[in-house]
Amino acid sequence: MKTRITELLGIRYPIVQGGMQNVGYAELAAAVSNAGGLGIITGLTQPTPEDLDKEIRRCKEMTDKPFGVNLTILPTIKPVPYEEYARVICEAGIGVVETAGRNPEPFMPLFQQYGVKVVHKCTSVRHAIKAEKVGVAAVSVDGFECAGHPGEDDIPNLVLLPAAAAKLSIPMLASGGIGTGAQMAACLALGADGINMGTRFLATKEAPVHENIKQAIVAASELDTALIFRPLRNTARVYRNKVASRVNEIEREQGAQMEFGLIQDMVAGAKGKVALSDGDVDYGIWTSGMVQGLINDIPTCEALIENIVSECRQVIQERMTALMG
Ligand SMILES: Cc1cc2nc3c(=O)[nH]c(=O)nc-3n(C[C@H](O)[C@H](O)[C@H](O)COP(=O)(O)O)c2cc1C
Repeated sequence: MKTRITELLGIRYPIVQGGMQNVGYAELAAAVSNAGGLGIITGLTQPTPEDLDKEIRRCKEMTDKPFGVNLTILPTIKPVPYEEYARVICEAGIGVVETAGRNPEPFMPLFQQYGVKVVHKCTSVRHAIKAEKVGVAAVSVDGFECAGHPGEDDIPNLVLLPAAAAKLSIPMLASGGIGTGAQMAACLALGADGINMGTRFLATKEAPVHENIKQAIVAASELDTALIFRPLRNTARVYRNKVASRVNEIEREQGAQMEFGLIQDMVAGAKGKVALSDGDVDYGIWTSGMVQGLINDIPTCEALIENIVSECRQVIQERMTALMG
């Protein structure tokens, strides 16, 4: 498969594994890259910039293929030394960084100085246009279906992707709600140059999370996610467990005036991390997207990517062609 994304990133298939807090370790990134996609280490999963440097080295021992690093710039309770993380990425010779959250503009001079290609993940056409203006190499457009932060506009990919494609000149990855080859074909038809997936890669053999989490995703339907933090205008789509449901109740009771302090303990990142590693699905908040309704297996990254690519090809070559008569 050859698209502007495979050319830009030097990968075999236009399939990217999005940054995932507490999941995007070297094992998963290397597995995706070895399978012909682009694996991504999640920068802030490493407690310090020095740890990120070690994780990048570990990944280099597991793959000789390109892989990237995610830098998520979001409001945090504890200040994060973003500049130092960015410098580690540059000095480690990483070729591509996935930025997310805030506008990456403040970091662009540093990334450009080191020739690091920036793929900015965003959830609206206006943010994608802004990212193109500040010089990113590509955007990853995350529709309302996505796991994690879908923004506040609530535009699903059937509309968001073609709307963004119409306004952009740079390559675009479709992100959010994708887990099958037919969906990949649809995204390419809508103007994307490749796909980015999170939840689908969470339910793979190499994902470094407890088996219970993977089984919970397989068992869940597309209805089993919750949107939390809406009153705070920092919406996150997560797996709908007991904690997420309780947070939603408190949000409904409190309305737009809700103070974060009321739910802070329940949604602590540390608890979500334990849920992922120990497999107690109700221990804390953890991220998962609507695509869980389409996930029925826990394959290796290689099998997953090969299946998606072959289904995508089949849909384009057989189904679409047959429909044209
Ligand atoms: C467990 C998990 C953790 C995530 N953490 C991050 C993160 O730290 N930074 C980020 O930019 N995106 C994060 N995401 C979002 C993914 O990178 C990707 O944009 C999203 O999962 C796409 O939607 P999908 O899950 O429907 O494929 C996370 C997703 C999951 C499933």
